[in-house]
Amino acid sequence: MLTQALLVDDSRSVLNFLKRHIEAEGLVEATTFLDPVEALTCARERAFDLVLVDYEMPHMDGISFIRTFRRLAGCADIPIAMITSRQTDDVKMEALQAGATDFLPKQPQSVEMTVRLRNLIQLGAAVRKLNDRAAHLASEVAAATRKLGEREEEIILRLALAVEYRDNDTGEHTLRVARYSRIIAEQLGLPARLCRDIYLAAPLHDVGKVAIPDKILLKPGKLTDQEMAVIRTHATIGERILADSSCELIQLGAQIAAGHHERWDGAGYPSGLKADEIPMAARVVAVADVFDALTTRRPYKEPMPIEMARNYLVENKGRQFDPACVEAFLSRWDEVLDIAAGGQATPFPKAEAPLAPIIKCPVKGRSPEFAATT
Ligand SMILES: [Fe+2]
Repeated sequence: MLTQALLVDDSRSVLNFLKRHIEAEGLVEATTFLDPVEALTCARERAFDLVLVDYEMPHMDGISFIRTFRRLAGCADIPIAMITSRQTDDVKMEALQAGATDFLPKQPQSVEMTVRLRNLIQLGAAVRKLNDRAAHLASEVAAATRKLGEREEEIILRLALAVEYRDNDTGEHTLRVARYSRIIAEQLGLPARLCRDIYLAAPLHDVGKVAIPDKILLKPGKLTDQEMAVIRTHATIGERILADSSCELIQLGAQIAAGHHERWDGAGYPSGLKADEIPMAARVVAVADVFDALTTRRPYKEPMPIEMARNYLVENKGRQFDPACVEAFLSRWDEVLDIAAGGQATPFPKAEAPLAPIIKCPVKGRSPEFAATT
């Protein structure tokens, strides 16, 4: 590809000479302008590798041209030579401060001009190669980062699904809790990045259940106090599994795992935190998790009617739940109903494949509120 040069001079004869001179070796294609303002308009539209500009011109002098050109996107490093017969030190200094790379004398066919032009052409080509390489590397890094992020999200989801399969027949609880949580986070006005992260980390809330023995986790009947105490260790175990990660999403998952059974009034577990002491992400997921647990069938209970679950949230606003989180959830009720009914295609990577049922044995025995307290 030929080096693209932009030539600006109010003298047609100088422009013609420069164009012939610079294109002589077949390495450069020059675009000429008598008017510096028109040249700048052109430079906003297309890329140049080298600029030669006159000092004295009507409408805009060479110094102002260089200053404006340097501010255009992608033009910070392009070599610019100012061509003038008035090369006083003051003019040179002003041109340098404006961003000029070099100065060329207005002396046709001088050896000095030929040599310096050749150097400028080589510099322009080198800068373009460097910029192309930098752009290529930047896009490679962006693609690799995106791929890493997608893998991170997928691993989180699959870890959460692996845990959920132990006591749920479809794995869809994990996805619904994520969606409900995103609604709450968005409606609370949390930053977009945090909404996304809460959405992605919410599935980790029950990861500690991996350490709960089957005979307790899958027990169809009422749990003893001792068994309930074992179940409740899943919050602390989940935090321990996820703690100290260098991954921000997993750090957030640790907060959610540790705090999703804390209560607004301080009567929750494992730490008895209350109100703002509970991390925001955990307060969000607490509402989403309980609502979904109440409204879905489990091996030990029938689903609670949606309106009854809504009333449960309202009654426990300011007691079990952060009132703002409940309000946020209820304010987008139509979307909640859509998710509860199985709407919204899953956005998680590769999770579109149907999840094979594992447990199909609805057994009554535990109260619906069990799900809201464990
Ligand atoms: Fe839990």
